[in-house]
Amino acid sequence: MTTAKQSDETAGVAPRQVAPGTQGDEGEQEIHLRPARLTDFVGQPQVRENLSIAMQAARMRGEALDHVVIYGPPGLGKTTLANIIAHEMGATIKVTSGPAVERASDIASILTGLQPNDVLFIDEIHRLNRAVEEVMYSAMEDFFLSWVVGKGLSARSINLRINPFTLVGATTRYSLISAPLRDRFGSVFRLDYYSDEDMATVVRRSARIMAIGADDDGLREVAVRSRGTPRIANRLLRRARDYALVKADNYITGRVARESLDRLGVDARGLDETDHRLLTNIINKFDGGPVGLDTLAASLSEDTSTVMEVLEPFLLQQGFLERTPRGRVATRLAYEYLGWPWSGTGADPGQQGHLFS
Ligand SMILES: Nc1ncnc2c1ncn2[C@@H]1O[C@H](COP(=O)(O)OP(=O)(O)OP(=O)(O)O)[C@@H](O)[C@H]1O
Ligand SMILES: [Mg+2]
Repeated sequence: MTTAKQSDETAGVAPRQVAPGTQGDEGEQEIHLRPARLTDFVGQPQVRENLSIAMQAARMRGEALDHVVIYGPPGLGKTTLANIIAHEMGATIKVTSGPAVERASDIASILTGLQPNDVLFIDEIHRLNRAVEEVMYSAMEDFFLSWVVGKGLSARSINLRINPFTLVGATTRYSLISAPLRDRFGSVFRLDYYSDEDMATVVRRSARIMAIGADDDGLREVAVRSRGTPRIANRLLRRARDYALVKADNYITGRVARESLDRLGVDARGLDETDHRLLTNIINKFDGGPVGLDTLAASLSEDTSTVMEVLEPFLLQQGFLERTPRGRVATRLAYEYLGWPWSGTGADPGQQGHLFS
């Protein structure tokens, strides 16, 4: 089974260093860096604790873990957690994705092939089609398959019992999972951007596994520029390693990390040229906002969906940008960070209430 997931790369366009999707052969490399046990999974304490209790209880009852859905931005550990669940439950994991399962018979053959208590991981679960979803309902609820083959007079329904299993669904778009499917999950885990502390732990761990020489300052510098996203941290760490090898005795200090990442256009908070352009456009062309999404996207020559789903989430989370009922606004923090005099027209993080009053 394969996943038909797209990476960030587009033909001919250099991918952003800070893009959260996989690039080149990163998917392969990630396998080595992926924590295999829950105790090695850094951060997300609430998710870890709740998952640990649920798995322990399932093991004590000798049953399959209840179905789980994991959601959150790309690169934060959804696939990693799915593999950890299988590992901790001593189960085999079968992997597929929403767009890869086309027909009811495809999902039926996957489900009938599962051994007792196996984990079925469906990535991009919000992209399952209707016919496939309908087979999933009774499979998830009663471990029972029921689907219709053929059409008209020759149509007949097939009913089959299957082994108990755990469905682990992952998505970056929880709201796009249909309500009936959502209702059939026993737990929902949301992954959030990691704190600087947790990112430093992720980077230290990866440096150890890759046998990279670095001091605390160097590791911290990589961590704070990685947008709270472990996948980006691992990529920037590799870039800093290359730079250190060629320019700095193969050792990453704070200075070496800063130099190498500055050269790649990743600034002290992990913003790149595209982020700068977005904020500068709002400040310069639209007086700090509010500016409508379509207008902003046109000014950047980007799709509205790219602006909304790829560019904005991190800027919002960092407090540089606000979505208001009348459009996007650059915050005071954005003015200060980019070195523009605060005009007082955009959102002030200290007084956000006035925008909605
Ligand atoms: N909590 C964590 N601790 C340590 N490393 C992590 C953690 N979460 C993720 N990683 C690292 O980041 C990489 C990317 O994580 P993963 O592939 O699980 O992200 P994802 O949420 O599935 O992303 P996508 O939405 O693109 O599928 C992993 O290979 C792993 O090395
Ligand atoms: Mg994934």
